[in-house]
Amino acid sequence: MTNKRESIHGQWSSRWAFILAATGAAVGLGNIWKFPYIMGQNGGGAFVVLYLACILLVATPIFIAEVMLGRRARRSPVQGMTVLAQEERASPAWKYLGWMGVIAGFLILSYYSVIMGWAMAYVERAMTGSFNGLDGAALQRMFESFKANPMELLFWHSLAMLITMLVVVRGVRAGLQAFTVLLMPALFVILLLLVGYGVSTGYFGAAFSYMFTPDFSKLTAHSVVVALGHSFFTLSIGMGLIMAYGSYMPEKVSIGQTALLVVAADTTVALLAGLAIYPVVFANGLEPSAGPGLVFQTLPIAFGHMPLGVLIGTLFFALLTLAAWTSSISMIEPAIAHVVEKRGWTRVKAGIWLGLGAWLLGIASVLSFNHWNEFKLFGKTFFELLDFATSNIMLPLGGLLIAIFATWIMRRESSFDELGMSERAYTLWRILTRYVAPLGIVVIFLYGLGILA
Ligand code: PHE
Repeated sequence: MTNKRESIHGQWSSRWAFILAATGAAVGLGNIWKFPYIMGQNGGGAFVVLYLACILLVATPIFIAEVMLGRRARRSPVQGMTVLAQEERASPAWKYLGWMGVIAGFLILSYYSVIMGWAMAYVERAMTGSFNGLDGAALQRMFESFKANPMELLFWHSLAMLITMLVVVRGVRAGLQAFTVLLMPALFVILLLLVGYGVSTGYFGAAFSYMFTPDFSKLTAHSVVVALGHSFFTLSIGMGLIMAYGSYMPEKVSIGQTALLVVAADTTVALLAGLAIYPVVFANGLEPSAGPGLVFQTLPIAFGHMPLGVLIGTLFFALLTLAAWTSSISMIEPAIAHVVEKRGWTRVKAGIWLGLGAWLLGIASVLSFNHWNEFKLFGKTFFELLDFATSNIMLPLGGLLIAIFATWIMRRESSFDELGMSERAYTLWRILTRYVAPLGIVVIFLYGLGILA
């Protein structure tokens, strides 16, 4: 049975277009800003091992499942889940899985745009040579005073949201696709350059063993939950976005191979970012557990001391902004596709309203770094709470439900037909998605319950 549905939002022009767009969505602040600092807060090597295990055993199979569901449904997540549930004679309540994704994407965008604003602000600082000759302590002060200034954060957050929505309203082909082609190779090159700088500090070995010598006694229930959540966040899965992108994917493209390429690119960028940042951390006696400011306090030391540092620093933060941009435009896609399909809104109208909403909510994150930083729930500021609830709860929960739908509810023929894999690859995928991933998520969740208690 081949499926002849078409998406009303258009289609990617080729397999490469999907790969580029999905890589654009996956590679972002999660890899360069978040991964290094959460690794530092969670004890280094053991966290990396756990994160890689989550990527391989849990996130990758679910990535494949999500693309598969999307391409089969050829609809946005909410309508898509409705159609698939009908087709598989399952409960219509599955559409709420789509809804959870719509909401998660919206919530993530609200704070993601704030951090994207940080990257933009640092382009300006890099360009004007503000890092020249500064040491770790001075850069820490620079970051602290930046964070303490809500008006500046608000300005950059607004700009980040504005440029995000400008691309979003242009639509699938013209807007999203054109972006990533040049970005990825450029990002790779700059990261490699920075790793090279790391080697020149003489602390590359220390960084390497910090990242790759696991000491499992450092792991807490919290780290385990964060590693799982990050594997979802960094691949952008569990919220229907990959499903939406999958729905624009041409037939006859191998989903498995395509997914593996995206995962490989994403993981490589994250590891390279770690290998670029940690030598600088150790060479300058900085704290790996510095938190969200880590990349902004460390790499500028390198830029302030290396030849061509102004140029390289500017390029780095510009590329980080671009990487964040190709992710931010994707996050809101499930919500946009939903209102366009369901309410018949134009993309422009949908973009304006949703963008405005996410911008408003983002102001709370802006304030959580200064005026409201004492205001905590479960020991977390508003930004931390939103990040925790979305990455570590909503996305893994969404992923769990996707895995269950794809392998317990959907008939074997349907998924086999849509994936078009060899019998062996299919069996491996099915075992991982049907047993290993759900079990992993449930066990980690149960283990993590201790955090809130
Ligand atoms: N994967 C993106 C990153 O690592 C973040 C993201 C999450 C994008 C969810 C889309 C959806 O930066």
